[in-house]
Amino acid sequence: MVTRRQFAASTPLLVTGPLALSGCSKEPATDGYEAVAERTWQPVPLTNLRGAALGRELVRCATLAPSSHNTQCWRFALDTDGRSISILPDLARRCPAVDPDDHHLFVTLGCATENLVQAALAHGLQGEARFDAIGDAVRVTLEPTRAQTTPLFTAIPARQCTRGDYDGKPLSSEELALLQRAGSSDTVRLLLLTERLAMEQTLDYVMQGNTAQLADAAFVKELKDWIRFNGADAVRTRDGLYAASSGNPNIPSWIGDAAFRWLLTAKGENDKVAGQVRNSAGIAVFVGQTADKAHWVEVGRCYERFALQATALGIRNAFLNQPVEVAALRPPFAAALGLSGQRPDLVVRFGRGPAMPRSLRRPVDAVLV
Ligand SMILES: Cc1cc2nc3c(=O)[nH]c(=O)nc-3n(C[C@H](O)[C@H](O)[C@H](O)COP(=O)(O)O)c2cc1C
Repeated sequence: MVTRRQFAASTPLLVTGPLALSGCSKEPATDGYEAVAERTWQPVPLTNLRGAALGRELVRCATLAPSSHNTQCWRFALDTDGRSISILPDLARRCPAVDPDDHHLFVTLGCATENLVQAALAHGLQGEARFDAIGDAVRVTLEPTRAQTTPLFTAIPARQCTRGDYDGKPLSSEELALLQRAGSSDTVRLLLLTERLAMEQTLDYVMQGNTAQLADAAFVKELKDWIRFNGADAVRTRDGLYAASSGNPNIPSWIGDAAFRWLLTAKGENDKVAGQVRNSAGIAVFVGQTADKAHWVEVGRCYERFALQATALGIRNAFLNQPVEVAALRPPFAAALGLSGQRPDLVVRFGRGPAMPRSLRRPVDAVLV
C-alpha cells in the first residue's frame, strides 16, 4: 500500500551532514553470497520515511541500477538545501580500456537517475533531473506530489541483466509498443530489430567487436580485474561481475586469475553470443541525438525505463555493446543501421528466459559523499 506523505512547504525533504549518516544499520560481516544477494534485492518497502532516511532509501534504489562492469561508478550527495540529490561520477571507478571517453560512465549515471526518479515518485516526490555540465553531475530536484507506485518502480528489485539463453519466441506487438514507449524520448531514438536478417547483421558486428576486444590486452586485463570468480569475492567487494551471473561456475580466484586469458577465447565467446542472439526475440539499439555527456545520461534513463518496463512484462535483457565499444566499428555499424553520422549508444538483446544469479551492490554509506 502506498503511504502518502505530507510535506510542509518549508520543511527540507532531505537532511545532509552527520544526521544523514546516523542510524545506519550495520550488516553482518560474515554473511555469504546468498544472504547478501537476498538482502540487496528484497522488494523496496514503502514505509513512512522522512528526511535523511528517505534520502538514503532513494539512494539505495538508485544503486540497484545497472552499471558498466558493475563498477557502481556513482556517488550521491543529499544537497544542503534539503530538496535535491546530486548524482556524481566516481572517476576512481572509470574503465579506461573499455570506456575511454566515459560514455558508459555517464550512461550509468542516467540509469541510477531513472531509478531515483521512479522511487521518489513512489514516495510522493516528483523528481526533475538536470545535467550540470560544469560539475559533470546530475541534480535531481524533488517536489512533493501525489505518490504513485508505477510498474517501473515495482520492477526495480526484480530487474537484472540476464546473460543466459532466452526461449526464442517473439514478443507481441503490444509488448514491443510498451518497450518502444518506455525506451525513447525527445532526444533518444530506440530501434527495435526483430527481423532475423537485421539481428544477424548486428550479430556480425558483435562478433567483430568481441574478436577485437579479446585481442586487446588492456581490455582483457581490465575485464579480469572486475570479475568476481566466486561468491566470497563478490561479497568482499560488493561490486564487479560475479562470474555465476554469466553462467560460469564458482572457482577459486587464484585459478580464475591464472586461467582467465585461456578460458576466454574469441571463438568460445562468439559461439555463445551467436546462440544467444538467435534465441532472443529482438535487439534494441539506443541512439542519442548528440554524442555528449548530457545525452549519454538521457540514453541511460531511456535504457533503464526500457529495462524496468521489460521486467514488469516478464521480459529479460542483456547488453551486447561490443559494436559501440570498439570505436572503429561504430561508423560502419551506424551505417548498417541507416544511422550514418550518428553514434549508436547501446545494443541490447531481449526475450523471455530464466533468471540468473544476482549481482551485488555496495551499501549506501559507501556511495554517499
Ligand atoms: C552503460 C552500460 C554498459 C554495459 N555493457 C555491458 C556489456 O557490454 N556486456 C554485458 O554483459 N553487460 C553490460 N552491462 C551490464 C552490467 O555489467 C550490469 O549492469 C552489472 O554487472 C550489474 O548487473 P545487474 O544489471 O544484473 O544488476 C552494461 C551496463 C551499463 C549500465
